Amino acid sequence: MAAKRVLKRAIYPGTFDPITNGHLDVIGRAAGIFDEVIVVIAKNSVKTPLFSVKERVTLCRETIQEMLPDVKHISVDSFDGLLVDYAHKQKAVAVVRGLRAMSDFEYESQMALMNRKLENITTVFLMPNEKYTYLNSTIVRELAKYGRDVTSFVPKCVQKALKKKFA
Ligand code: COA
Repeated sequence: MAAKRVLKRAIYPGTFDPITNGHLDVIGRAAGIFDEVIVVIAKNSVKTPLFSVKERVTLCRETIQEMLPDVKHISVDSFDGLLVDYAHKQKAVAVVRGLRAMSDFEYESQMALMNRKLENITTVFLMPNEKYTYLNSTIVRELAKYGRDVTSFVPKCVQKALKKKFA
């Protein structure tokens, strides 16, 4: 008798303030590897986000619907507290994180090792397309604030939301 196959669920956490094409690239790659991917928005007590958790969740959902309409095994959720507790609750086999450049490595390795120490959770690093190496949400917010074009960096729904925020 064949062994029962366990569903491989991964979580992709971040602040997503707002989601960018770089994040979307990582989501698409993760969806190609795992049976289920949960994009999970951290409330984040360290940063002071421009968009509320509710707005960030909506923007992530709209982005996935707009850009990856045929991929049905991606969902969006939010969490507050420790990532390992959320991962445990979801029975996730891995945490996905994007690695854009060497500069990401120090912070990411510290977080991955701490999460492994706390709950033996594995972190999988994925490299987004090199055209997104220099991209982050702070830069996008700053460009939008000063009225610069962000069409190559974020999906349409995020462009609209940024325009509205800075109107
Ligand atoms: N494309 C574009 N930008 C990307 C990117 C990609 N592929 N990957 C990361 N970024 C950017 C983000 O936009 C963000 O930019 P910003 O700093 O300008 O906002 C930056 O890189 C950091 O990435 P992000 O994925 O949002 O991580 P974060 O550091 O904001 O969040 C958490 C990290 C939420 C996962 C982490 O803080 C956490 O787990 N918090 C919960 C509390 C906890 O468990 N703490 C203990 C950890 S050991």
